[in-house]
Amino acid sequence: MNRRDFLKTSAAATAGSLFLAGSTATAASANSKLNIALIGTWGRALAFTDTISKENVVALCDVDENHLNEAAKRFPKAKTYVDWRKCLEQKDIEAVIIATPDHTHAFIATWAMNRGFHVYCEKPQGNSVEEARLVRATYLKNKNRLATQLGIQRHAFTNFSRVRELIRDGAIGDLRSVHTWGNRQLRRPGYLPAKGQPPKTLHYDLWLGPSPHHPYNPDYFSGRAGANCLQWNMYWDFGTGQVGDMGSHTMDLAWNAIDAGLPTSATAKGDPFNPEVTPVKLHMTFEHPANDWRGPVRVHWHQGGAMPLMSKSYPFVDLNKIGHGAMFKGSEGFLVTNYHNRIIIPVGKRGDLTYYTPRTEETVIPPLGHFMGEWINACKGDLKTSCDFDYGGTMTEQMMLGLVAYRVGQKIKYDGKTGRVTDCPQANELLKRQYRPGWKLNG
Ligand SMILES: NC(=O)c1ccc[n+]([C@@H]2O[C@H](COP(=O)([O-])OP(=O)(O)OC[C@H]3O[C@@H](n4cnc5c(N)ncnc54)[C@H](O)[C@@H]3O)[C@@H](O)[C@H]2O)c1
Repeated sequence: MNRRDFLKTSAAATAGSLFLAGSTATAASANSKLNIALIGTWGRALAFTDTISKENVVALCDVDENHLNEAAKRFPKAKTYVDWRKCLEQKDIEAVIIATPDHTHAFIATWAMNRGFHVYCEKPQGNSVEEARLVRATYLKNKNRLATQLGIQRHAFTNFSRVRELIRDGAIGDLRSVHTWGNRQLRRPGYLPAKGQPPKTLHYDLWLGPSPHHPYNPDYFSGRAGANCLQWNMYWDFGTGQVGDMGSHTMDLAWNAIDAGLPTSATAKGDPFNPEVTPVKLHMTFEHPANDWRGPVRVHWHQGGAMPLMSKSYPFVDLNKIGHGAMFKGSEGFLVTNYHNRIIIPVGKRGDLTYYTPRTEETVIPPLGHFMGEWINACKGDLKTSCDFDYGGTMTEQMMLGLVAYRVGQKIKYDGKTGRVTDCPQANELLKRQYRPGWKLNG
């Protein structure tokens, strides 16, 4: 049983018997309620209402006063803020949930951990290599006192564990590569043109936050609750397109199964570069070194119409019918999966599965349970979660590095220890984003 399997087992084992981590200055006791600050109160945050209603929501923050007022009706005891920097000064906060747009995630997460708060942060863990690394490094520094979880909640679907078991136990032989993909296509020509003035209830300058200024346009705010991210996440200064959006969920299918760290190279090609809008069609490839149970693997992300090729011997398997999925290729076969279901396709002379022994009922990975509940329990107990900022950080860093390879248009070699590209100075310039004066990432 390796660390990830152990984590899941121990999480299940302790679900009913929480204990206090003595080293955690801010840990709530197992039976007490957690003091939570919710930053970003509408949209995605609405999915958390039931879970966090069982805790103490002590602070609410939103740049849109209408959203803030609605949230205050749900959590009348909470103090309210429009600026997350002010919110994080509130002394009784123990844990922070971040459900704001992507260009603020790394800022809020880092500031919150620097103040000793546990953090649940919506995906992605940052919009650049630098951001993903800083959030991970800040977590690793505080690992013995803080619980973190990246908001990739599909991770709790039992299929993720079944896929991990099959890959880890050799159901397709020795793992060689894994392809992940998503078919969402949102084409935009460029930033929206200036249109009208922001309503008085919207603090537009705070919405822009650290990102370079772009004029107000109501279309950035016209999406339905939980899907408004599709109004802004394709623009470079606000998001990273499908790489950070569905890519975070779908790469997790692979990440959970392959125990990878940082890649040694990245290469990417797709739509012609647009300085305002992220590519729709894109194929990124990463090389990962061998670890203690498998050889080197190639990891791929395909999006917006780019797709992996299925072997011609299996014309009845149409990958295009899977909107978001993954295909693992091994020496003895393929495993094809979406978030919920999987199939094994044995190939070649040994395609009889005799080389593979399925787990028993006792040795399968136990269910993870409620994804945000796992984090809340961890804040009150052993600090262990399935998708902490170490796990989420390496996954996000890989994806952000792929966008750098796309922008320089060549294969780049990467040193994960130093976080530097070793053969392309221009690529190193693109590991960071540009911020407006006055905004500090590590504050
Ligand atoms: N895990 C998932 O399945 C899932 C699903 C949808 C969205 N998301 C993620 O959730 C996040 C929010 O997405 P959304 O569609 O709800 O976006 P949204 O544009 O609706 O924004 C969410 C809320 O944050 C507020 N907000 C914006 N900037 C803020 C700031 N600087 N400080 C405080 N509040 C601010 C908005 O006013 C809004 O109330 C994104 O990172 C997105 O990727 C995750």
